[in-house]
Amino acid sequence: MEQLSGEIFYPSKDVLKKTRVKDWNQLADFAGENLEAFWEKEAKELKWFKKWDKVLDDSKKPFFKWFTNGKVNIAYNCLDVHLDTHRKNKVALIWEGEKGEHRSFSYFALHREVSSFANALKSLGVQKGDRVTLYMGRIPELLIGMLACARIGAIHSVVYGGFSVESLHERLEDSHSKVLIVADGAFQRGKIVPLKAIADEALQRAASVESVLVIKRTGEPVNMEYGRDIWYHELVNLPMINSKCPVEELDSEHPLYLLYTSGTTGKPKAILHTHGGYMVGTYSTFKYVFDIRDDDRYWCAADPGWVTGHSYIVYGPLLNGATQLMYEGAPNFPFPNRWWQLIEKYGITILYTAPTAIRGLMRFGEAWPNRHDLSSLRLLGSVGEPINPEAWKWYHRVIGKEKCPIMDTWWQTETGAFMITPTPTVPLKPGSGTKPFFGLKMDILDEEGNPVKANEEGFLVVKTPWPSMMRTIYNDPDKYVEKYWSKYEGMYLTGDSARRDEDGYYWIIGRTDDVIKVSGYRLGTAEIESALVSHPAVAEAAAIGLPHEIKGNAIHTYVILKVGVEKSETLREELIAHVGHEVGPIAKPENVEFVDVLPKTRSGKIMRRVLKARALGQDPGNLATLEE
Ligand code: WTA
Repeated sequence: MEQLSGEIFYPSKDVLKKTRVKDWNQLADFAGENLEAFWEKEAKELKWFKKWDKVLDDSKKPFFKWFTNGKVNIAYNCLDVHLDTHRKNKVALIWEGEKGEHRSFSYFALHREVSSFANALKSLGVQKGDRVTLYMGRIPELLIGMLACARIGAIHSVVYGGFSVESLHERLEDSHSKVLIVADGAFQRGKIVPLKAIADEALQRAASVESVLVIKRTGEPVNMEYGRDIWYHELVNLPMINSKCPVEELDSEHPLYLLYTSGTTGKPKAILHTHGGYMVGTYSTFKYVFDIRDDDRYWCAADPGWVTGHSYIVYGPLLNGATQLMYEGAPNFPFPNRWWQLIEKYGITILYTAPTAIRGLMRFGEAWPNRHDLSSLRLLGSVGEPINPEAWKWYHRVIGKEKCPIMDTWWQTETGAFMITPTPTVPLKPGSGTKPFFGLKMDILDEEGNPVKANEEGFLVVKTPWPSMMRTIYNDPDKYVEKYWSKYEGMYLTGDSARRDEDGYYWIIGRTDDVIKVSGYRLGTAEIESALVSHPAVAEAAAIGLPHEIKGNAIHTYVILKVGVEKSETLREELIAHVGHEVGPIAKPENVEFVDVLPKTRSGKIMRRVLKARALGQDPGNLATLEE
């Protein structure tokens, strides 16, 4: 094995013996030199109604196309293909509710559910290319609804259930959704989030929605608007709805979904992914990184409403015919052993979660996990933000019992699939995602575009295309070019800063733009600021992220009140609640500080870096452009 520097965790003999990819370097070298051949080989493992003409078409870059003129459907590859195999009656999805209710679906059952759901959507007039928004908690209907859209070529847009009125409204409007699928509510730590009521408020401001399909989850009474709202369980049980639903044979580049994510400025943008390339990317990364096997019981604890859930709850696992768990609730409710209990109960073999959850659970001490039999685990995963070595080692020792390699996977909504990640046999360094996935060339550059020296910080870029890459920003192709492809000629700008050590291992430092990662959730300063400014008392606002022990980053805000408005503790609390109501509870600022001025450039842009430096007691650096 290679000589590496620093603290290294080598794979055990057992891992080396059992893992699919024995020689990482060999496959990486092959893919590095034969990008298209590598991806073509992966694509051939999936079912296509018609084979592609070209693997990669870069004639209109950065609008890359993959598997051109192929005919395919990702939902067909998630379900139908397994029905002729030993997997037909295999459990695809085990679901447990916060209160301990249990549901499970075989591949056969899931296929039936998805087909009926697709027919229900068709009965509402949903056609190929229409947008459908889904807004609910972690329940099977979310996954089923997404696959139902994909089956008929509709484009799903999932809005995370932790978002609120304004966030939902913006997304409904920007996507021009025809149908909204919403749960009556969601359970959260014993309380109920009234999703339908939030949606009703958002719908008052959104004109395109013709029908609202309501899923019963909590059973609490909700308002049903005649002619617009319909219960899913009533619709799907009508005699005209059955489970025979032919699958749409779609072009490889047919849009699969929109997923809104925060960027540098303004409103969240819809990242667009397509059937063919995204399917190949999620299938292949999931297969190699988690080294998935037929007897695995995989659990990704993320929310399907974020990209992690799209790629590694819905698509990656089902494409691979895996068995997985979906859990509705929070890690520490009612007690901090909830997760460990689930791992024991279901014999989970792979756990994929975020550093913030690890840090949060670490706080309660080892006694909680130690009460449970976690010996079924063979692999762990981390995603969403850099994992600090201390949390990594706790995860490795206390949860993985020093036998489970940790797959620290760096990627983004835009990339669709893992980009920097180990596979199980790669020697690990706590806090590093190791190296780029097969076929990817990445680099770290300085402002002028020169590669930085080992261990120096710079802008992380990707120099090769990959199949699951975003295709564009929906409704805004110019922004796609400007934001991701214009800083350096021909390279994808990730928005992260990173360094690479002497062994070629990548270490992510954080965002270089105005995106704040709170508990792994991606939020934009602009969203929080516009929510604050929408309050009648506020004249101007600025939001920044400051380090937080559990959340990674916490939101701090600075507010200039309108003339004549009195500063008060009550107003401070009201503003925090207002952001929660508009954007969602996850966006609630840690603090609101009332100020008289904000640092601005001469062109009027708020200099958040100055605010940040001040809050951290650091030198704000170059202030040449500072106006006030
Ligand atoms: C951050 C989440 C360090 C990074 C899949 C990236 C990470 C942003 C990691 C994308 C990781 C994600 N280590 N940082 N393993 N994974 N990030 O779009 O800043 O919600 O740019 O996708 O999360 O967030 P997004």
